[in-house]
Amino acid sequence: MLDFVIYFVGFIVVSIGFVTFFGAPYVPTLKKQVQDVMQIYPLKKSDVFVDVGSGDGIVLRAAADQGAHAVGYELGPWLWLISRYLCRKYPNITIHFGSFWRKDLPPDTTVVYTFLNGKFMPKLERKLQAHTDKYGKKISFITYGFKIEDRESKKQQGPMYLYEFKPNDLRNTNIKI
Ligand SMILES: C[S@@+](CC[C@H](N)C(=O)[O-])C[C@H]1O[C@@H](n2cnc3c(N)ncnc32)[C@H](O)[C@@H]1O
Repeated sequence: MLDFVIYFVGFIVVSIGFVTFFGAPYVPTLKKQVQDVMQIYPLKKSDVFVDVGSGDGIVLRAAADQGAHAVGYELGPWLWLISRYLCRKYPNITIHFGSFWRKDLPPDTTVVYTFLNGKFMPKLERKLQAHTDKYGKKISFITYGFKIEDRESKKQQGPMYLYEFKPNDLRNTNIKI
């Protein structure tokens, strides 16, 4: 029995801990900061709001409450299951299991939110610029706590920074995809 408990706890710890290597460990955005997200970019029904690393889906639910279509990507299997359960009553929420680094975001994405470790910002900037260039549509990007180096934010609300990515932005011609 003790062996089972040790293996089970080990499995839980490893399955929660491994995501740290791909983005950030799970820390939820608190309710007050969820309000900051909603205020820095007032969502419309036509918006497609994407949370890369969506955790338990708290920000997705707030976006869906505004009428937007909300899409999450979650690498932690437990969090993915929990978020699916917590969001089960929202027809306008979709949550994908797996690493967002390996997925193409929805072509009609209008806003991306993230709460990730700052060291992943340059990689995420390259991914978002590539997406914007590919689909020829601008996207707004909200990041919790971490700025993008050398890129001017449009707005700040509490710990949130809002950026805008435009297709074929000349400023970014030196970005290596
Ligand atoms: C700091 S938490 C933020 C959770 C949620 N966005 C929120 O604001 O409440 C970061 C989340 O990103 C997830 N994550 C980290 N790297 C990821 C990746 N490459 N693909 C998908 N999810 C990832 C983690 O499992 C964790 O749930």
